[in-house]
Amino acid sequence: MTDDFVQDGAVDPRAALIEPQALPRVQAFEGLGFGLFVHFGLYSQLGQGEWVWYHHQMDREKYLELFASFDPKGFDADALCALAAEAGCRYICLTTRHHEGFSLYDTRGLNDYDAPHACGRDLIAEYSAACEKHGLKKFFYHTTLDWWHPDFDGNWDAYQQYLRDSVKILCTQYGRVDGLWFDGNWARKDRDWQEDALYGMIRSHQPEAIIVNNSSIGAKGAEGHPDTDAVTFEQGAPSRRNQRGAAKYRAAEMCDTMNSHWGVGAHDLSHKAPEDIIRNLVACRAVGGNLLMNLGPLGDGSIPGYEREVLKLVGRWCQICPSAVYDARPDWSLTGRGGSVLLRQGSTVYHFVPQVRIKGNTHLANGEPGDGLQTIAGPLGRVSAMRWADNGEPLSFTQDGERLVYSATPYPYGSQLIYRIAIIETA
Ligand code: GLC
Repeated sequence: MTDDFVQDGAVDPRAALIEPQALPRVQAFEGLGFGLFVHFGLYSQLGQGEWVWYHHQMDREKYLELFASFDPKGFDADALCALAAEAGCRYICLTTRHHEGFSLYDTRGLNDYDAPHACGRDLIAEYSAACEKHGLKKFFYHTTLDWWHPDFDGNWDAYQQYLRDSVKILCTQYGRVDGLWFDGNWARKDRDWQEDALYGMIRSHQPEAIIVNNSSIGAKGAEGHPDTDAVTFEQGAPSRRNQRGAAKYRAAEMCDTMNSHWGVGAHDLSHKAPEDIIRNLVACRAVGGNLLMNLGPLGDGSIPGYEREVLKLVGRWCQICPSAVYDARPDWSLTGRGGSVLLRQGSTVYHFVPQVRIKGNTHLANGEPGDGLQTIAGPLGRVSAMRWADNGEPLSFTQDGERLVYSATPYPYGSQLIYRIAIIETA
């Protein structure tokens, strides 16, 4: 069963089936809401994306020169985690090893192709300490596909053992791990990835870790192995999932690039604006999912300036009403005007309204329409008060049965917050 959800109004053939209860760790994961993805490796030095070895058909010896030149003097895990926290992210997921096979952690004798041998530092130890300091949940991305290891195209069982031994290091040497994010099984769909053994090992060391295995861009929302806790929507819009009759409730997460690459692309100018990221975050939360937004550090590990500033602006939006962003969940019984989103936390309902006009700005070019009356239909409960989250301005409303009408008053001149959030208190 994947995302074959039957739209409202149609008869759901699984209506009589029960929706499984989310495990506490899965519920907690949904409450994280927004995470920062970080792609950093040897490839970052070339500034041509993380697939450069493969797509530019680079000679192996040539590629491995990047090991000798790896000098992450700008990699400051503390600054990275501080930025993630300021951006409103509650978790962070760093590539501990990507498809190039190079590990940012100490592989403890598995091989010498790791950060301690390249630069004398265990970047995952630094990252782990920084996550702890900044109160971020710590996720480890780990590739399953490997272009470097000879056993990947040779002795499959030996490669799987190597993969497990590698992940075991992450599970035993860096304290509590909040999540493991795998990627690459889609490269060999016909192979036995021995997931039972991999996930069993993880559970024996980190029973509460969230396990994700990216289903890939071509299989958004697909459910994989039963031990995984979330489905992925790589660079797409997550949709509402019908979990009725499923053996297990799974969370949803959409990961997205800042421009068109995960690893830094020096000639990629297709960057997202804060508005795009906020819209994507709201689209994820609208269906109960998380957004994992990527950042690709430069070759020396430092954070590119544009990404830094964009994320700070997104963080300002997240701070307007954190309970709406992180704690509230979809209430499918409510509907609002097109483009608006309704979430609920207990007796409080949040209405995210796009395109609210700016007061006094009507003669300016981008004074947007869409202000005026908003309608919410459905069993809200008796509304006792309404106000805008950003400035506390009370909103007047009328309620008639299961229909609430209110006037979405304009932003004060000088502000535009992409989505304006109305806080609706119900009895
Ligand atoms: C894809 C890419 C990989 C990237 C991942 C992030 O699977 O192959 O490079 O790390 O997406 O979701």
